[in-house]
Amino acid sequence: MAEAALQLDGVTSGYGEAMVLRGVNLTLAPGEVLAVLGKNGMGKSTLLKTIMGFLPPRDGQIYIHGRDVTRVAPYRRAAQSVAYSPQEQAIFQDLTVSENLRLGLRSDRRSAAATERVTAFFPFLGKRGRQPAGTLSGGEQKMLIMARALLSNPRLLLIDEISEGLQPSVILRLGEVLRRECATRELTILIIEQNVRFALSVASRYAVLARGEIVDAGAVGPGAETAIQDHLAV
Ligand SMILES: Nc1ncnc2c1ncn2[C@@H]1O[C@H](COP(=O)(O)OP(=O)(O)OP(=O)(O)O)[C@@H](O)[C@H]1O
Ligand SMILES: [Mg+2]
Repeated sequence: MAEAALQLDGVTSGYGEAMVLRGVNLTLAPGEVLAVLGKNGMGKSTLLKTIMGFLPPRDGQIYIHGRDVTRVAPYRRAAQSVAYSPQEQAIFQDLTVSENLRLGLRSDRRSAAATERVTAFFPFLGKRGRQPAGTLSGGEQKMLIMARALLSNPRLLLIDEISEGLQPSVILRLGEVLRRECATRELTILIIEQNVRFALSVASRYAVLARGEIVDAGAVGPGAETAIQDHLAV
């Protein structure tokens, strides 16, 4: 079997004494898109923070492209071609749109090509490069966050609730962008979503997280949405 893009073996983590994730196992093959769904407070964001290294696991191992990163600092995981689009607003409000985008660039020769590719997905970013990012609308700021994550040419992309508060046409556009990125280069994505339909339009597999454990998982296909909605119902 080819080396996994991301593998979690028995990962337990949380805040102080309170453990939020309990023995989570996950494997994503290169180019695979996994949607992780679950009710509020079930540990979805904690999962991504743990994978990024912002929370050290209490137990278990995390491998990215075959390398054990369990004790590796977040910035060094980012250098391993991992990009993270967090749930909370994460742009620098006082920097311009262009300056925010440049933060996503690694200084390599492909930078110009990456900028061109990404601004083609989100044309307004090219036109409003000199505007302070804090003056963009909420939806525009989300697109800026996604553009910045894609600009680093990641091999593994972690996305936390990007569709929250976006208008339907923008959600459709984001889905297209992510599908195209996966099709044209081997991008692996772990996407957290409340919008089940959007998540399943991008993902090939899904997992449901409840109280820090994966309680259901499967391939995306007929019946997947109903199975997931059952878990999300009160
Ligand atoms: N910094 C923190 N310190 C202490 N507890 C936290 C912290 N962040 C989150 N928690 C707790 O961990 C649990 C899981 O939170 P998490 O943010 O991972 O949930 P989530 O599944 O992403 O929820 P949502 O769908 O609302 O974004 C919650 O009970 C939350 O209160
Ligand atoms: Mg969350």
